[in-house]
Order: sequence, then C-alpha cells, then structure tokens
Amino acid sequence: MYYSDDIVEEVRMKNDIVDVISGYVKLQKKGSSYFGLCPFHNEKSPSFSVSRQKQMYYCFGCGAGGNVFTFVMEYENYSFVEALKFLADRAGVELPEAEYSKEEKERRDLKQILLDMNKLAAKYYYAQLISENGKAAHEYLTKRGLDEGTIRQFGLGYSNKYSNDLYQYLKIKGYNDEQILKAGLINADEKHGAYDKFWNRVMFPIMDTNNRVIGFGGRVMGDAKPKYLNSPETMIFDKSRNLYGLHRARTSRKSYFLICEGYMDVISMHQAGFTNAVATLGTALTAGHASLIKRYVNEVYLTYDSDEAGTKAALRAVPILKEAGISAKVIRMEPYKDPDEFIKNLGAEAFEERIAKARNGFMFGLEMLERDYDMQSPEGKTAFFREAAKRLGEFEEEIERNNYIEAVAKTYRIGYEELKKLVQRTAVQSGLASMAVRPKAITGKPKEKEDGYKKSQKVLLTWMLEGQNIFAQIKRYITPEDFSTELYKKVAALLYEQYQQGEVNPAKIMNQFTDEEEHREVASLFHTRLKEIKTKEEQEKALKETLLRVKSHSIEKSAQELEPTDLAGLQKLMNAKRELLSLKTLHISID
Ligand code: GTP
Ligand code: MN
Repeated sequence: MYYSDDIVEEVRMKNDIVDVISGYVKLQKKGSSYFGLCPFHNEKSPSFSVSRQKQMYYCFGCGAGGNVFTFVMEYENYSFVEALKFLADRAGVELPEAEYSKEEKERRDLKQILLDMNKLAAKYYYAQLISENGKAAHEYLTKRGLDEGTIRQFGLGYSNKYSNDLYQYLKIKGYNDEQILKAGLINADEKHGAYDKFWNRVMFPIMDTNNRVIGFGGRVMGDAKPKYLNSPETMIFDKSRNLYGLHRARTSRKSYFLICEGYMDVISMHQAGFTNAVATLGTALTAGHASLIKRYVNEVYLTYDSDEAGTKAALRAVPILKEAGISAKVIRMEPYKDPDEFIKNLGAEAFEERIAKARNGFMFGLEMLERDYDMQSPEGKTAFFREAAKRLGEFEEEIERNNYIEAVAKTYRIGYEELKKLVQRTAVQSGLASMAVRPKAITGKPKEKEDGYKKSQKVLLTWMLEGQNIFAQIKRYITPEDFSTELYKKVAALLYEQYQQGEVNPAKIMNQFTDEEEHREVASLFHTRLKEIKTKEEQEKALKETLLRVKSHSIEKSAQELEPTDLAGLQKLMNAKRELLSLKTLHISID
C-alpha cells in the first residue's frame, strides 16, 4: 500500500457514497436505501441499491457491489490509486507524496515514460496521416470506407517512409535510446543502429481501458508481407490482458460483446453502430481475455472470419469462454470473408439479422463436426452421434445437459430418450476409459479440490459478514488462521478485529485491498447472496457443513505441515481434531 490507512479512510469518509453515485446515477430513496438503474448492466427497472448507512452499493441484477472506491474504479475504470486520487480531489483532501522504494519509483517512472512516449507517437502518426506525407495512407483508409470521424475516434495514423523519423522526433523530445527501445517503437542492430519499427504503414494505436495508448498495430497498404506488424509486449503492453476496441466497447451498454479477429473489423463495426465490438491483439483468445471480458458482459458473439482458420479459432474460443462463465454464440459471415467485408456489402441491418440468428457455440461445434463424417451413410451417422453424445456428456449440470440433448435431438431429428440413453452409456464408458488410460483426468483432481476448499472459505466468510449473531457462533470454532487462502485470511483478520472493537464496517475493510483484482473479489464477498434458494433449515445445514469443511481442511493442512518434533503442535492438533468431532452435532442458528 502506498498511502496510509488513515488517509484512505479519511478520503472514503469525506466522500459520501450516495452523493458520489448520484453524480452518475439518478437515485431515489426507498426505505433506508437509494435505488436507481444499474450503470453496469442494461436494465429497465431499478435493481441498483446504495446504502448511506453502510456506505456500500449493490446491484441485485448483476451482482456488482462495493464501497465508494469500488464504484469509481468500476465506473471510470480506474485503478485503486487513481480512484483514491479522484475522490481525494473531489473532497479536497490533500494526499501526501507517496513514498516509494527506489526500485518501485524507477519502475513507475519508466511506465509513465513509456505511456507518455506512446501517446506522443500516436499523435505524431496522426499528424503524419493528415499531412501531405500521409496522403496515400489517408486515401487508403478512405477507400476502405472509413470516414473522418472514425479515423479520429480510433486515432489512426501513418508512419512515413523515412526509416528513422519517429526515432529522431522522440530524441528531440528528450527520450533516450534505451527508453525508446523499451517502448517497442524502434529496433536496433549493430549494422543499422536504431531505426523505426514501423514505417510506411497505416497505424492503429492500441488503447487500454483508460484510453491510454499502450502499443500499435501497423498495416501495409498493399500486399507486402507481413500484412500487420504489432508492437512487442512491453512493460505497458500485455496482449493477453487487453482487447482492441475495449475502451469504447465497455461503455456501449450492450449486454454482450461482438468479438472479431481484426482491427479493421472492429473499426468497421463501430462505424456501423456496433460499438460493442472488440478483437484480440493478433493472438488467439485466452483465459486472460475471457476473465477481462467477464468484467463487462456474460455473453459474447464470435464473429470470426469465415475461413477454416477463423472457424477453428471460434471453436477453440467457445470452451475457454464457457470456463469463465461466458456464454458464446457464433455468427457466420458467409459469403463474405469477415465482418468488415460483410458490413460493407450488406450493411448493418443484415448484420443485425445475423446476430439474431447466431448459433449457440455448442451447436455450432456439432455442425462443424458433421463435416468429418459421412452423414449419408448409417455408419457415418452413428459415429457422429457417438461423438455428439460424448460431448453432451461433458455438461456437468443435469438441466443444462438435458436441454442440450433436447436441442440436438430436435435439430438432428432423433428421439430424445434414445439420445439420452446414448449419452449415459457413452459417459459410463468414457468414464471408465478415462480412469484407466488417461492420467490427465487424475492430475486434474487436486486443483478441483483446492478450488472447492477455496469456495467453502468464501462462503463461510460471507456468512460471517452477514451479522453479529452468526459471526458470534462461527467465531467460537474458526479463527482467521483457518483460512488457507491468503486473501480470505486477511479479510477474516480484519473482520475479527472490527468485531473486537465493536464496530463492523465493511466499507472500511475494503480500503485495505488496493489491487484491482483483490478489491473486486473482496467486494464480491460482501454481496454473495446466501439466502436466496433454500429454506432456513437447509441454509443452516449448509452453513454447518461449510464450517466443518473449512475446519477439517485447516486441520489437515496443519497436520501436513507439522514437524515430527513439534510436540506442542501435535497436542494442539489432537485437540483440534477432537473438537472437530464434537462439532458434528453442532447447530448454528441464522436468525
Ligand atoms: P485487413 O486485411 O486489413 O482487413 O485485416 P483484418 O482486420 O481483416 O485482419 P486479418 O483477419 O487479416 O487478421 C486478423 C488480425 O491478425 C489482425 O488484426 C492482426 O492483429 C493479426 N495479423 C494479421 N496478419 C498479421 C501478420 O502478418 N503478422 C502479425 N503479427 N499479425 C497479423
Ligand atoms: Mn479484413
């Protein structure tokens, strides 16, 4: 942490959450809370609530929630420190100069230098584009159907024909070779010295969600190879944590993203009104991208190229997205190559129709699978259904599995019951087979188990946050040390401390987590809904089981870590085990 707890808390207290959010969302008082339309997802009736008393907000629709820092981080896409500065400024609190270690300071300075330099380069390329030098490049973009507004919105540019123009310019601006090299804007070798990475290319600046230029793509204007050059990864450019067009798509307020392959696709789509289009930065879609996307939407439409490579890429993306909890549909661009050409030829309305007709990712996979089988012959068809059944068996949730069985049965005109039986049989067979021959399935287990424990810890912690009464009961058996996940241990310790001092203040706990990912995760702890589905008795039972699971995992863990010579430790462990046994009869009341 770079700022003291006191100053962070002061800034939080001086920014009343209702006042701050009122600047963004129209709020109405209902009972003790304020309600409005959630700014983080599309909705028609208000499910976004703000509590002045708790100084927290929560959306019953999409689950967004947190304190005033969380809100500003989410809305403005700020880091914690940026949100802190913003709110300090708003409330007239003067922040002390942060104290960094020397290395930290150098790193931060360099990062800022690279950002500044990239911004300067983007401005320079843009100036070139609209100058006499950039005439051909400008014409190229116009011929591709981009209007002036679009060119400006995306900050497109041109790197001219001289091979060290930008380099010279940046030197004049005071940057040294090492810095320029670290920004990925030049190459250097012994023979040629330093020279521009990009020349005679149309330039596409790549922005992060805070609208900062972090890298570039450059396209040749003819057929030369390589067609595109991209900036190398640098301190500020991580291709797996950014998406082209995301800085605009994130405020499009649509409930889904359109994911395409190319920069030009994204730009064309935005120009045609599809401002929720994004693309990866010349790489395949990864789990990193998926978790980034998940921050904004739960659904995507893959609009990849219609060639074999695009089809394969779409098929690979579907399970990655699913893993992150994002449902994927696939839009085909045939008879055109990609969204850019589609829109140019058929227009936005035709594209809307394709969106409406998009195929579910799983069904699309089957359709592609068909191509590997001779569907006219009984053998081919049977083999196809076996493979389809195998894939259907991979849906863990029964309802979902049955829904898909139904959809497949309908599409391929076979009996639902028949197909269901085949799925069950295949699952049993492949289950046995995988145990016997696939060690991979076994190595996968421990992680699953770890995730399970982590989840139990999260649920338990959420219960503890519910209220004094539940906390008091759980506290008798659980200490912060029982949480093996560091983040939860820290939250638990803070919570115990607050209870001890007699004042529970979740908004204050949140101050302690300044890393964006951590901050979001902690925010989610305060809002996981526990009481929704089950009866009171079932909830109490579930809570007890969760408590037991966390406790026994904790004991198991200490047993593993125990030194054989540690007799006191052994004694403690025995006591804990005995206590655990007695807990089996425990009853926790959630009233
Ligand atoms: P246009 O031909 O300008 O319409 O390109 P596009 O936007 O349709 O892109 P395409 O489908 O050809 O490629 C998709 C993406 O892959 C591009 O936006 C680049 O990020 C990347 N890419 C394409 N060609 C190359 C290449 O030659 N080298 C590298 N490194 N990346 C490329
Ligand atoms: Mn294209």
